[in-house]
Amino acid sequence: MCGIFAYLNYNVSRERRYVLEVLLNGLRRLEYRGYDSSGIAVDADLPAPPAPGSAPAPYAGAPPLVYRQEGKIENLVRSVYAVIDAIWRMLWANFTACKSHFQILPLILMHEVDEKDVNLDAAFNVHAGIAHTRWATHGVPAPRNSHPQSSGAGDEFLVVHNGIITNYEVLKETLTRHGFTFESDTDTEVIPKLAKFVFDKAHDGEGDVTFSQVVNEVMRQLEGAYALIFKSPHYPNELIACKRGSTLILGVNELSGQKSGKSFNDVKALTANGKPKELFFSSDLCAIVEHTKNYLAIEDNEIVHIKDGSVSILKFDHDKEKPASVQRALSVLEMEVEQIKKGNYDHFMQKEIHEQPHSLTTTMRGRLKDGAVLLGGLKEHLKTIRRSRRVVFIGCGTSYNAALAARTFVEELTGIPVTMEVASDLLDRQGPIYREDTAVFVSQSGETADTLLALDYALENGALCVGITNTVGSTLSRRTHCGIHINAGCEIGVASTKAYTSQIVVMAMMALAIGSDQISTQARREAIISGLFSLPSNASQVLKLDSEMKELASSLIDSESLLVFGRGYNYATALEGALKVKEVALMHSEGMFAGEMKHGPLALVDENLPIIVIATRDACFSKQQSVIQQLLSRKGRLIIMCSKGDASAVNPGGSCRVIEVPKVADCLQPVINIIPLQLLAYHLTVLRGFDVDQPRNLAKSVTTQ
Ligand code: F6R
Repeated sequence: MCGIFAYLNYNVSRERRYVLEVLLNGLRRLEYRGYDSSGIAVDADLPAPPAPGSAPAPYAGAPPLVYRQEGKIENLVRSVYAVIDAIWRMLWANFTACKSHFQILPLILMHEVDEKDVNLDAAFNVHAGIAHTRWATHGVPAPRNSHPQSSGAGDEFLVVHNGIITNYEVLKETLTRHGFTFESDTDTEVIPKLAKFVFDKAHDGEGDVTFSQVVNEVMRQLEGAYALIFKSPHYPNELIACKRGSTLILGVNELSGQKSGKSFNDVKALTANGKPKELFFSSDLCAIVEHTKNYLAIEDNEIVHIKDGSVSILKFDHDKEKPASVQRALSVLEMEVEQIKKGNYDHFMQKEIHEQPHSLTTTMRGRLKDGAVLLGGLKEHLKTIRRSRRVVFIGCGTSYNAALAARTFVEELTGIPVTMEVASDLLDRQGPIYREDTAVFVSQSGETADTLLALDYALENGALCVGITNTVGSTLSRRTHCGIHINAGCEIGVASTKAYTSQIVVMAMMALAIGSDQISTQARREAIISGLFSLPSNASQVLKLDSEMKELASSLIDSESLLVFGRGYNYATALEGALKVKEVALMHSEGMFAGEMKHGPLALVDENLPIIVIATRDACFSKQQSVIQQLLSRKGRLIIMCSKGDASAVNPGGSCRVIEVPKVADCLQPVINIIPLQLLAYHLTVLRGFDVDQPRNLAKSVTTQ
C-alpha cells in the first residue's frame, strides 16, 4: 500500500537540497503504491534556539524538519520548495553567508529564527532523511494522518510505516495512560510514541540506550505487518529500519572493497575497505535502481542499523532480550533505469502496454529449448505436482484473471483438475486445502496481503505452494516452496497490463512442463510451444490497432456502461478487459460469460449499451456466432473482436464495429485478445480526463486486508 524511503549519505559533497531531491524522487518512484498524502523528515543540522521562555530541546541535535501534505507527491514537492524559495528570497541580500548552508534556511523560516542567531559555520557531513507516500487505511488523507508520524513535541522519534499494526488500540490505551496524547487516526502513531516511552524509561533507569535497543523493544510490542524506518535527533546521523511482513530493501552505493554476493556482517565487513557513501531504504527496488545496483532484501525480524558509516544487521527474537548479529549478502539488481522511466510515452500504462512484445520475450527467454520447457524454479517439484490431487490457483484482481485464463489449458495439458480461488474468498470460507494439493499463487507484486494470508493458510494445510510473481525477493517468492518469476520488468502503472500477459505465458510454460511426460499430448504441446515463439511478433501486430482503439474509445466516451462477453479461453479476457475499463476509465463495465447471456444479462440489451463480444476462432466460435445473432436481433450495439479474416463471418450484415486480431494457438489467444482492450481502457481514460497511472482510490500493491 504505502511506500517508504530513506536516504543517508556520508561525506558526499552535495548540497542539502540534493538530499531533499533524492527523497522526493524516491517518493515519486513509489507513488504508485499510494498517492493520497506524503511526507518527509530531514535533519535540520542546527539546534533551533528555544522559544522565548521555554527550555532548550532535551537532546543535542536539532528537531528534524518535517513536511507533510495531503494529495499527490507534487503537492509535497511544491510545499517544500515554496518554503525554501521564500527563505531564499528573504536572505538573498546575505547570499554570501548563506549559500553554503542553503539547507538550513527552512529551519530559519519554520522556527522563525533570526538569521543572526544561527551558526552558519556549523559543519555537517552526514545527511539523513526519511519519506513516505500513503494509501490511507486508518484515518482520512490529511496532513495529521500522513507520515512521518511523531512521538510528539520536538519530534524525538519519527517513523514511516508500510503495513498495519493490529494491536494499535491496546498500545494506544496503554500509552495514553502514560500521558501520551494522540493527534492522528493512524495505527502508526503508536510506534514513535512507544519508541519515546522505551527511550524515556531507559533514561529514567540505567541511562544509555542505543537506537537498536529502542527498536528491538518496540518490535517486541508490535503485532501485525510492517516495514518501519525510524529517525531521531537523540541519534543524529543514524537511521534504523526493521520489518515483519512488508517488504523492505536496503540499497548500498559506492561500496569499495565489498563485492556483491559476499556476506557482510555488521560494521566491519561493510566498511573494512571503504565506507558506503550512500545508503537507501525503500519499499521496492524501483526507487533505488537509479542510485545503485547493490541491494539487500531485508528479512522478517531483521533490524538494520546505520551508524557512523556502517551497517549492522540484527535479528529480533521474541524470546531473547538482545537481538543477535546476522550475516547477509548483497545481491546485484538486474534492472535497468529505463524500466522505471516513461521514455517517449505519456503514461506508464501506455508504455507497459506497448512493451508487451519485449516483456513476453523476456518472460520466455532461456526457458524454451529444443522443444522442451526449462523452468529451474520448478524442476525439483515436478514429480510432486504431477501426483497432486488438484491444482488450486489463488490470486486477486488481474492476477486471478490470468490464472483463470490458464485454467483450461492447465487441465488439458496436465490432466489435473484445477480449482480457482479468489484469495480473500478462500480465507472467508476457510475453503478446503489438502496436503495432496498444489496451490499456485499468482501475484505481480508478490506482496498482496490477501494472497499472502491465503499462502499461510495453504502452508498450514500442508499443500505444496508454488509462487508466480514479477517481484524477485518478494514475500511470495520467499515463502513459497518453489516458483517462477515472470520477468516482465518493473510494472509501475497501477493497472496491471504486461504482467497479465506474462503471467499467462508462465502458466502455459508451467502446464507444458508438468505435462511433458504425457505422450498423448505431445503434438499439442509442440503446437503451443511454436505458438509461444510467435507471441511477441503477434503482440506487435495487435498493437497496430492503437489508433483504431482510440477512435473506438472516442465513440464510447459518454457511455455509462460497457459489457464484455467472452467464453472458453476468453471468459478471463472479458473479465480482465472490463476490469481495466472500470479501474482506470472509471466507467462501469462487466465481463460476462457469453453462455449466461440469455439467463439474465440479455434484459439489459438495447441500442445504446455498448457490448464487446469476443469471438476469435476456437472451439466456441460457432456458439459466439449465435450469441451475436441473438444480440443483434435485440438491436444490440455490438463491437466484435474476431480473428483476422473473420469479419464477414461474425458480422454478416456489416452493421457492427469489428476488431480483427492475429490468430494464434487457441489457448494463447487471451494473450493477444486482451491487448486491444488494454488500449481501449487507456484511451478511454485519457479522453475522459482521468489519471491513467494513479486511478482514484487504488494502489499498486494492496498490502492490507
Ligand atoms: C488491476 C490490478 C489489481 C491487481 C491485484 C493483485 O489492474 O492491478 O487487480 O491485479 O491487486 O495484485 P498482485 O498481482 O500484485 O497480487
